[in-house]
Amino acid sequence: MDDLKAKYLTQIADAADETSLEDIRIAAVGKKGEVALKMRELGKMTPEERQVAGPALNALKDEINSALAAKKAALADAALDERLRSEWLDVTLPTRTQRRGTIHPISQVTEEVTAIFAEMGFSVAEGPRIDTDWYNFDALNIPGHHPARAEMDTFYMHRAPGDNRPPHVLRTHTSPVQIRSMEATGAPTRIICPGGVYRADYDQTHTPMFHQVEGLAIDKDISMANLKWVLEEFVKSYFEVDGVDLRFRASHFPFTEPSAEVDIRCSWEGGTLKVGEGDDWLEILGSGMVHPKVLEAGGIDPNEWQGFAFGMGIDRIAMLKYGVPDLRAFFDSDLRWLRHYGFAALDVPTLHGGLSR
Ligand code: PHE
Repeated sequence: MDDLKAKYLTQIADAADETSLEDIRIAAVGKKGEVALKMRELGKMTPEERQVAGPALNALKDEINSALAAKKAALADAALDERLRSEWLDVTLPTRTQRRGTIHPISQVTEEVTAIFAEMGFSVAEGPRIDTDWYNFDALNIPGHHPARAEMDTFYMHRAPGDNRPPHVLRTHTSPVQIRSMEATGAPTRIICPGGVYRADYDQTHTPMFHQVEGLAIDKDISMANLKWVLEEFVKSYFEVDGVDLRFRASHFPFTEPSAEVDIRCSWEGGTLKVGEGDDWLEILGSGMVHPKVLEAGGIDPNEWQGFAFGMGIDRIAMLKYGVPDLRAFFDSDLRWLRHYGFAALDVPTLHGGLSR
């Protein structure tokens, strides 16, 4: 019996695959295997001999069976490892180590502005960049003959002769979104709308396409005081300083009454732009109390509701914060400029994490 055990355990250990393992199983513990033959011999033994040989044979059978099972599992593992090795496939692309993209400062600043106003309860609304002249002008209390219509240097979309649909324009400001969001949600409301706008203008501080963020808050008791507080809070958070000089200048817009323009103290000394010091002022936004006619155009009853609105230049405040002296550089697509002024893709601005690290 010891010979049998040694023979089969060695064979099992040496088996190279599952087929040879099965052959061993049949020869050892199969119906006509060697162990079965030995079992048959028990009949010829004396009862005393049988009492010793019977249990020993059963133990031998068990031992061989468990060796077979262990070897079978080991062979299956090895087969799987081998398959994984031979069928391995590299599905990754090699990373580009040198040409890394960056987030454009305008996108970064838009995210910063959105984060700050979100904290004050403003949600983001959007409107089309190509809009009718009704949304861009008439609904905002700028009728056809109004000088502001000419002042805005508007790009009109081409219309085929005989096409009498209302003219479309490239929106000259984000203010049409005031009307669209009044129509969509009614009052009360608190929204900002960041996006691109267009005017035929080109110099160091003007490009034909630039960016604004519109703000609109409508409720029963909104006042100029709320407007001033919201803008001061914004400027403090955005520039990450406690004292930035703001100048509220009485002004005029057809769609607000009263109206104020807001300038921020800065200096251009030596060609570098610094915010919060110097004797220069840069206009960053227009604002005021929403004109009753504008509320009406948006379907809101001016006897019940009132609100403030502002329109701020995103590119302007980006120049101020990140020291960009020439607005035109934002849109030149100069890779060296983009790598210098761009932001890392994972630096998403949040108020708790820091806006512009
Ligand atoms: N739409 C104005 C502009 O583009 C800014 C503005 C918005 C002024 C809202 C007042 C209220 O100059």
